[in-house]
Amino acid sequence: MSDKATLEINGEKHEFPLVKGTENEVAIDIKTLRGVTGGVTTIDPGYKNTGSCESAITFLDGEKGILRYRGYSIEELAEKADFLEVAYLLIFGELPTQEQLDKFHADIKKHSVIDDDVKKILDAFPKAAHPMGVLSSLTSALTAFNPSSVNVDSEEDMYNAIVRIMGKFPILVAWTMRKKKGLPLEYGSSSLGYVENILKMMFKHPGEDYEQNPILVNALDKLLILHADHEQNCSTSTVRIVGSSHAGLFASLSAGISALWGPLHGGANQAVLEMLEAIKEDGGDTKKYMAKAKDKADPFRLMGFGHRVYKNFDPRAKIIKVAADEVLGDLGIEDPILDIAKGLEKEALEDPYFVDRKLYPNVDFYSGIIYRGMDIPTEMFTVMFAMGRLPGWISQWREMRLRKEPIGRPRQLYIGETSRAFKAISKR
Ligand code: ACO
Repeated sequence: MSDKATLEINGEKHEFPLVKGTENEVAIDIKTLRGVTGGVTTIDPGYKNTGSCESAITFLDGEKGILRYRGYSIEELAEKADFLEVAYLLIFGELPTQEQLDKFHADIKKHSVIDDDVKKILDAFPKAAHPMGVLSSLTSALTAFNPSSVNVDSEEDMYNAIVRIMGKFPILVAWTMRKKKGLPLEYGSSSLGYVENILKMMFKHPGEDYEQNPILVNALDKLLILHADHEQNCSTSTVRIVGSSHAGLFASLSAGISALWGPLHGGANQAVLEMLEAIKEDGGDTKKYMAKAKDKADPFRLMGFGHRVYKNFDPRAKIIKVAADEVLGDLGIEDPILDIAKGLEKEALEDPYFVDRKLYPNVDFYSGIIYRGMDIPTEMFTVMFAMGRLPGWISQWREMRLRKEPIGRPRQLYIGETSRAFKAISKR
């Protein structure tokens, strides 16, 4: 294969280097395009063909259904690692030794406290506020209490910022849910594992001890791992682009949370559950909703189906489907919603509309069913996704800053009015 791509514009040929990734992916390096062509740019709405960066964190092959964090398969990590280990792996590039993991956890625990004034901000939100709006606001508000900006040239500074947010974020997640449920705000316990602590902070009832349920710990651990990173998706790209202006880590994360909120991205897990509920309420007629999803005049889409990158299957969906069965079975929950989901999946996988467009269940088709089994309110599902994605966002932000990437600033193709004279208001 040649190591150059040639572009001909108006009879003039321009050569651009081809660059190869470690998994043999090939990209055309067009950094010099505008310079050598006198201002010609590319146009690629939704960035379907555009690589925004080089990254060594996550590899995915949408055609083969492969997902790896730092070279380790998602299947193996979901089975053998815990969330904190995966977080360390994503952020620092290698699986931690026991000593490194213990130190990481101990440092996180030191920062597992939030200025009491944050409670006043949380208090000011109405109970009906969507938890994602609350979480994004509180994450941004943390900048007010930790105003010093991170010196990215100092490894120590960078590390401290990371353990600080790893410690504080689960508290914000738990408090956001407790506010929604009208429960008093609680801290966790430093004797617990990272995920056990999240569960305790979320579910402990005042005046009662919280007993850990290993089924729930294991299920949440797995869900968080599966959501921990997914290369340059909408929210991660947002974190990188906001961070590229040298805005701080917390501000960049807050922007990522807002990006995740949308129903075409992380908000899909809430949308899936609402869709399944609506189908149940409507008599469980899955065929009717399949027809709606295929009708181009109907804006309805089968939520939890389709993916920008996976055009074969989403490996995370396979793991989650099995986990949903296990968790609900272990908890002794029979949920008719699970049957509707399985019915829809079966029909879609046999339907030419979905088959031709390579639409498969994505990670969020079954995650909401597990969260529901865990007694987590529907509006909190995307918050749980954000909890899982936190280490991914941090690692991508860290990588972007360490690589000293330039500020993200795409070009456009202007299609508006050309120059025209101003008209006085009386003449319009
Ligand atoms: N239901 C019905 N039709 C669909 C669906 C769906 N869920 N998804 C895509 N299609 C159709 C489109 O109408 C389009 O059909 P056409 O070629 O006849 O016009 C074709 O499939 C391609 O769809 P696009 O929207 O162009 O694909 P894109 O890659 O831009 O979108 C997306 C991917 C946003 C995930 C889309 O599949 C979707 O909206 N899915 C439902 C929402 C969802 O589950 N989002 C979660 C994604 S995973 C995550 O973010 C964690």
